[in-house]
Amino acid sequence: MINIDSDKCTRCGKCRTVCPTSIPIIEKGHMPRLRHPEACISCGHCVDVCPTGAFEHDAFPAKNIHTVNRDLLPSPESLMELIRSRRSNRTITAAPIPRHALDMILEAARYAPTAENSRQVHLHLVTDWKTLHDIEAATMGFFMRLARVMLFPPVKTILRPFMRKLYDEAPALLSMNEKFRQGQHPSICEATALLVISAPRGYDFGSQDCNLAYQNASLMAESLGVSQIYMGFVQTAMFMMGTRKAARILGIPHGHKAFAIMGLGMPAFRYGRYTDR
Ligand SMILES: Cc1cc2nc3c(=O)[nH]c(=O)nc-3n(C[C@H](O)[C@H](O)[C@H](O)COP(=O)(O)O)c2cc1C
Repeated sequence: MINIDSDKCTRCGKCRTVCPTSIPIIEKGHMPRLRHPEACISCGHCVDVCPTGAFEHDAFPAKNIHTVNRDLLPSPESLMELIRSRRSNRTITAAPIPRHALDMILEAARYAPTAENSRQVHLHLVTDWKTLHDIEAATMGFFMRLARVMLFPPVKTILRPFMRKLYDEAPALLSMNEKFRQGQHPSICEATALLVISAPRGYDFGSQDCNLAYQNASLMAESLGVSQIYMGFVQTAMFMMGTRKAARILGIPHGHKAFAIMGLGMPAFRYGRYTDR
């Protein structure tokens, strides 16, 4: 339920200005009113912008409303330095990622915007070795099946002129498979955790919402000194496998599709420099 406490309301009109569905009606000399409150998308702008706490919303009890601490905000320079120095650091070690760091990475992902504030993004953290191994095995299995077909001489003769890039990558794939056979996890870059970011398969903005969550989480990981790498190999294999099977392997809800997957781990070292991009 939404309510404007008319005693506290100063009729400043800020809530009306920011509401994406134009629900508050504030007119000079009139009591504040609400038009079509059922159209509310629960974005919380009204509550956050109200200077006197007059705007009440069921979705945001007082304990969930916080005053912005501007002293804690990064300067544009420090934020830019973080953005510039972020790297896909693949020097992942077996050291465990501290729980508080994982929690901050998840929280950063949760704060990303979603289309119409629909908040259908699901965050699933995989940290147990067996599931990480099963994901690696499924990914390598998919690419090796693909390689077998691609490298079959008659197929290779026909396809190679049209798929040169894919054929150029074949030796790297075969060497990854060799590493996998030796007990390593090359396609997940030896990550000790995977953050699987998914949304319902039929949801139109699944990819956008999940990848915005990814970017928030990746900057948080960087600031915590945790390695993060986009898991394109895994994601491609899972897409090709079909939603149902992929959801089972990744441990995400049935009917969800993983639109972004992040490999995480503690790096052996951090980079001392960054190059212009
Ligand atoms: C969509 C996407 C897929 C990627 N897939 C992989 C991957 O499967 N394995 C990997 O090691 N890096 C992967 N990366 C990381 C890129 O290789 C990396 O971002 C790029 O080389 C630039 O390096 P930087 O992230 O350190 O700036 C992927 C990145 C993106 C955006």
